[in-house]
Amino acid sequence: RIKEHGKTVATSTDESTVASQSLSYPPKNRPVKPVAIQYPTRLLTFSYDADRTLHFDDSAMKYFVNPPMNADLKYGYTRWIKRPEEKGRIDGLLKAMVKYCQDLDSSSGTLQDQSDGKPSSQWLRQMRCVSWRGVMTKTLTALYEERDGWELNVMHINNLLYLEEHLSDKRLAEKEDMTPYHRQLSYYGYSFESFSTSSQPYQPERLPGHPPGWSGDVNTNVQWCSVVKTKLGSHRLLIGGEVDCVTAKQGHGSAEYTPDNYVELKTSMAIRGANDEVKFERKLLKFYFQSFLLGVPEIVVGFRTPQGRVVSTQTFKTMELPRLVRGKPHGWDPHLCMHWGDIFLNFLLQQIPSGKKADKTHEVWRAKFIPGTGVTMKLLDEAEVQEVRAGEDRVGFLPRWYFHTIDD
Ligand code: A3P
Ligand code: MG
Ligand code: MG
Repeated sequence: RIKEHGKTVATSTDESTVASQSLSYPPKNRPVKPVAIQYPTRLLTFSYDADRTLHFDDSAMKYFVNPPMNADLKYGYTRWIKRPEEKGRIDGLLKAMVKYCQDLDSSSGTLQDQSDGKPSSQWLRQMRCVSWRGVMTKTLTALYEERDGWELNVMHINNLLYLEEHLSDKRLAEKEDMTPYHRQLSYYGYSFESFSTSSQPYQPERLPGHPPGWSGDVNTNVQWCSVVKTKLGSHRLLIGGEVDCVTAKQGHGSAEYTPDNYVELKTSMAIRGANDEVKFERKLLKFYFQSFLLGVPEIVVGFRTPQGRVVSTQTFKTMELPRLVRGKPHGWDPHLCMHWGDIFLNFLLQQIPSGKKADKTHEVWRAKFIPGTGVTMKLLDEAEVQEVRAGEDRVGFLPRWYFHTIDD
């Protein structure tokens, strides 16, 4: 057993698991050394179209408009084109990363991030971790998560950690097999997005044959994504995630929309009493980090009836959410989450040796989060890595085309 950040890290002596370590929670009731998180800088944006093809443009960007009161969130449910549940691949993010690096090299230092004119390979070497925003949100909020566990696949190459959510075929089938009730609830969120956005600034859509404000039938393949860099403690992170819409600005073309204009949309049950309020304020933790990580300053919540009617909307400033819950019994403290996130990244960096492209073995590790406890980690064996690869042309879980682009 070795001591790690004042906590005990157990190293398994079980020969059958090649290596296994665990990291338990730091106590929540003790003051922590502040870990700074940098306000994110946007690197680029991209869109997925209705066929899930990625384009380096803002074709999927939408403008926020006020949704009509009493809008029926059940509307269009039977026409929902639902993106199938899929493994947590980071291919799209890697594509964006490579594109950003190519642009850096060809513009020889004129991009906002590259004032020193260094080639992209050097820029990339400063980065410590790359993942989708959803994974980072789960990681940072794990300290308060009492119900849902998660698993990550982790690779460490050239001192850069790659994280993807691990979803086994069984887990994917379970997610796909939602009860009709949950499917309906899940649809409310997307339907609210249709009512609250427009392809034109300031103008709610008026599509013939549809209710006022409906901006089109829901196709969850379509997404507008932003890729940012940020820093947690000493770790530089590359994060990508979906942005629901932007606040319209007079005279702006789509390329001029910066994270200052980003808006996150959420739906929630109307608050009818103290219990509902507690539930809602707990949920704000996830809203907070989800938005914070991409630099989204505003969250518009559509409150709805159980039957899916919008009864009110309320705009929250992301940065003000922690103060809303501070000191309450069900409150949460973002600093504890950042502290935990820093410990978690240090744990991964220290436990997983960094490989090189030329290595014969490219280790894949599995981090498993157990609510209320912490994280265990193990090195995957060949059969497990094959399951992760799922018959695709990959090195570990990284697409082979990407693997060829990295330096030795
Ligand atoms: P709500 O958050 O309004 O419920 P996001 O808010 O992250 O942009 O996600 C959009 C919608 O996707 C959510 O809207 C919700 O309806 C659906 N959604 C997100 N995560 C989900 C999950 N784990 N299970 C089911 N639906 C989910
Ligand atoms: Mg979204
Ligand atoms: Mg949303």
